[in-house]
Amino acid sequence: MISRRALLTGAAASALTPAHAAGPETLASAAARAGLIFGASIDSAAFDNSAYLDLYRRETRMYVSDVALKFDWLRPAPDIWNFRPADAIVEAARADGKLVRGHTLIWNDNAPAWLKKLSSREIERVFDEHIERVVGRYAGQLHSWDVVNEPFWPMDRKAGGWRDGPWFAAMGSAYVERAFRRAASVDPKAKLTLNEAQCDNDGDWGRSIRPLLRGLVDRLRDSGAPLHAIGLQSHLQSEFPRNYPDFRTYVDGFGAKGLEVYISEFDVNDAAFPSETAERDAAVAALAGEFLANVLASPAVKLVVTWQLSDRYSWYREVARKRLIGLGRKPRPLPFDDEFRPKPLRAAMIQAFEARTRGAKK
Ligand code: XIL
Repeated sequence: MISRRALLTGAAASALTPAHAAGPETLASAAARAGLIFGASIDSAAFDNSAYLDLYRRETRMYVSDVALKFDWLRPAPDIWNFRPADAIVEAARADGKLVRGHTLIWNDNAPAWLKKLSSREIERVFDEHIERVVGRYAGQLHSWDVVNEPFWPMDRKAGGWRDGPWFAAMGSAYVERAFRRAASVDPKAKLTLNEAQCDNDGDWGRSIRPLLRGLVDRLRDSGAPLHAIGLQSHLQSEFPRNYPDFRTYVDGFGAKGLEVYISEFDVNDAAFPSETAERDAAVAALAGEFLANVLASPAVKLVVTWQLSDRYSWYREVARKRLIGLGRKPRPLPFDDEFRPKPLRAAMIQAFEARTRGAKK
């Protein structure tokens, strides 16, 4: 639980933190001292607004493709390969001296209608061709690839908890190993990541998906598949139960297998927090601070990525516009507000990075 006191002190701190007080310390520099890479997902919002791109330049060490490499964005029709948005990210990263992380090569979500109409054999052909062409285009230039995103979704009611979709329908669960092997053969340099949602929470979702993911990881490793990292999205939910010691043990378990762990899509859904802005921002910061203090104590964690940088471009804004969360309020899930001013969340993240730096020196 976040105490009333923490809420109030957080609120007070935010009132005392004007934009220009951000100083030379950045999320990227504080993370680097803690042995972490800090990055954020990026899309056209930053390329259409130089102030937003400047924020990425200043605060991050890594650009992560947000939607640019998703199958339906890349291939709206069978004969269209729209590489321009992803090329722009890789170009900008090169110009700005940043690392790049690709999200996401294979996902059973985000499938266009044309793909769903194909036969299983055709889907397998599209799958192999897609991996070869997309991974090949950026081979040697990416820090890491989310090779498979969200393999599990028990709500789809498939045996084994697998997420349903065209790849799964055509190949069964074998699509996962096939994707990793093929990606590695095209780009032996990128760290190949299995990315999953929900594992951070201790609700029904988190508890059901965690063992499924661990089992898949063990099977991939037993078969010698090239798997280097586990991405835990960590879209924190204000209303979900949490159990930090259990989560820490879970994360350490991947580290013990020689895998890196990435907090790969960090943000805080504030739908259940107070309406008043300062109180809400403080509650977001307190929840994020608690979470990071626990998980960053694990040396397996090497990377923290937020999903965008400014609230204005959070994917939760769209979700809230559709009235799926938040009772008509504008979500404030990220370290910078709509005007790109630092929020208490940014301070809490820097504090958590500093705590890890101190912990490592002990
Ligand atoms: C989000 C994008 O940021 C939005 O622009 C899009 O409308 C929906 O998807 N988990 C993931 C990401 O793995 O790909 C999602 O990204 C957020 C949840």
